[in-house]
Amino acid sequence: MTSGVQNLKRTHYCGEINHVPEGTEVTLFGWVQRRRDLGGLIFIDIRDRTGIAQVVCNPEDQPKAHAVAHTLRGEFCIGVTGALAKRPEEMRNPAMKTGDVEVTAHDVVVFNEALTPPFVIEDGVEVNDTLRLKHRYLDLRRPSLQQNILLRHQAASSVRRYLDGHGFIDVETPVLTKSTPEGARDYLVPSRIFPGKCYALPQSPQLFKQLLMVSGFDRYYQIVKCFRDEDLRADRQPEFTQIDIEMSFVTRDDVLDVTEGMIVTLFRETKGIELKRPFPRLSYAEAMAIYGTDRPDTRFGMLLCDVSDIAATSDFRVFTQAVAEGGAVKAIAVKAPHNLSRKDLDSLQGAIADYGAKGVLWARLEEDGWKSTLTKFFKDGQLAGIAHRLGMDVGDVALFVADRKPVVDASLAALRLHLAERLDLIPQDTFAPLWVIDFPLMDWSEEEGRLVSVHHPFTSPVLEDLPLLGTDPGKVKAQAYDMVINGYEVGGGSIRIHNQQVQQQVFKVLGLSEEQARIKFGFLLDALQYGAPPHGGIAFGLDRLIMLLAGTTSIRDVIAFPKTQKAYCTMTDAPSEVDPRQLAELGLKIGEDDR
Ligand code: AMO
Repeated sequence: MTSGVQNLKRTHYCGEINHVPEGTEVTLFGWVQRRRDLGGLIFIDIRDRTGIAQVVCNPEDQPKAHAVAHTLRGEFCIGVTGALAKRPEEMRNPAMKTGDVEVTAHDVVVFNEALTPPFVIEDGVEVNDTLRLKHRYLDLRRPSLQQNILLRHQAASSVRRYLDGHGFIDVETPVLTKSTPEGARDYLVPSRIFPGKCYALPQSPQLFKQLLMVSGFDRYYQIVKCFRDEDLRADRQPEFTQIDIEMSFVTRDDVLDVTEGMIVTLFRETKGIELKRPFPRLSYAEAMAIYGTDRPDTRFGMLLCDVSDIAATSDFRVFTQAVAEGGAVKAIAVKAPHNLSRKDLDSLQGAIADYGAKGVLWARLEEDGWKSTLTKFFKDGQLAGIAHRLGMDVGDVALFVADRKPVVDASLAALRLHLAERLDLIPQDTFAPLWVIDFPLMDWSEEEGRLVSVHHPFTSPVLEDLPLLGTDPGKVKAQAYDMVINGYEVGGGSIRIHNQQVQQQVFKVLGLSEEQARIKFGFLLDALQYGAPPHGGIAFGLDRLIMLLAGTTSIRDVIAFPKTQKAYCTMTDAPSEVDPRQLAELGLKIGEDDR
């Protein structure tokens, strides 16, 4: 028999009874974590979102409660009323938040029975991911996921408090809208009223927040869902949440200052972590030079070192050719205590396989000289020069990659991370935030055969570089910035173009004809002509921030109902086929081949 709550009232949460005076009558609601029958006594562990409490049912004192307890199984939803009692000394459990006390039950009510769950609801149990996602509502009962979701709530509250306190106004922007390019594909929503036409779900509220500045709102924020149809990774979801911010009459440093304060407050209020201000700033060029990436993990060293000039004078064709063709030879050094065997060194090829480099070459500095296949191609002084530049001592190993610059950087950046993880070089529980600044405005895309925006087309060039837009646009720097923590890009933004002619010129350089620009962004170009203020902003990835705060490496762990790597919802089976009548109303037909 199942029951409603009726006249029962919860007096405490399960995790909060440790300091309740002995003898107090308590009523707890929750789920059965475990039932143990010990001789006559039945022990029930009851769990809610705050923790677990132990309940004891004695057949002699309370036969009715005992009889109900006897029927309980895992995950039954129950209510328990009883007296708070100290546990006998030898029964105390210091590992448990409520391990000093128990509840002697007078009454046990079953609100609902439960089927045997498809997996044990406990942390640390190996379960197939698909099964977990299919029954996400059960997986979410696990303490670690409950904590992550709670942390997410606390983080969002902290951010809201901070921004409210700094004069920001929360404004909602449309979800059914027109495409805003952020570099991914759009999710489209076909219109019924305009057959053949589609809305796009926003990749970000970028243009609306800029328009709000034109409207005079001055300081805007929104914690907002964004949608991007892109290849997924552990730190990417097709729908994710941004802390989206825009400000009028500001410089880059104003934006960095107020948002750095927000992140410092967030870490302090949710985790008691004190991040040191100001965050270091690294130019894009420096980041690429020494980390090979614009989102460096700065918790450890092993910096990249350009040795192209020395390598070009060797007799090793792979090196000389790479440099002659405009590429580079770069190296990292692995310090001596980390002994890399021949087999280890060979296995490193696998770590860079995805980045297009032909291979990693190595050279070990030993007491009696160099050990490497490279030695015969180098004169002694040359290798000594490389060792000096890399700061190598006896026993250290240098690892080289020679190729086109982007390939060298991407390969060595990946190798640096791979080795740091493998050799345990990354200090745990530390956070290394930094700003990456001075990005280029545009980058040449081999794939598209044209210049593309590094951030987005609304980013303002550095004013001194404006003349270059017409002559050498690839050289123009942007007033753009990213915040990076522990190798994750957690936020990105810029000062925007607020002058219509500059915006039109940028569209042109990006290959948009005047007509195309009008069709796509006419509303923005119009708005910029009505006294648009200078403005700039940033958006942070809320999911990624929570992932870092929670100490996990997958954003799925901090999203209540995430999608799989294939953007599929295993629980609801979305996306799914729709009723042919709905398709007909939208004027859509699905081809036979697409089914
Ligand atoms: P950007 O594209 O850099 O900038 O996005 C801002 C931040 O959002 C997070 N992010 C994601 N998180 C999870 N899954 C994804 N698929 C995903 N994509 C992005 C990242 C990123 O730093 N409109 C600009 C902001 C601006 O200029 O103000 C924008 O969207 O942490």
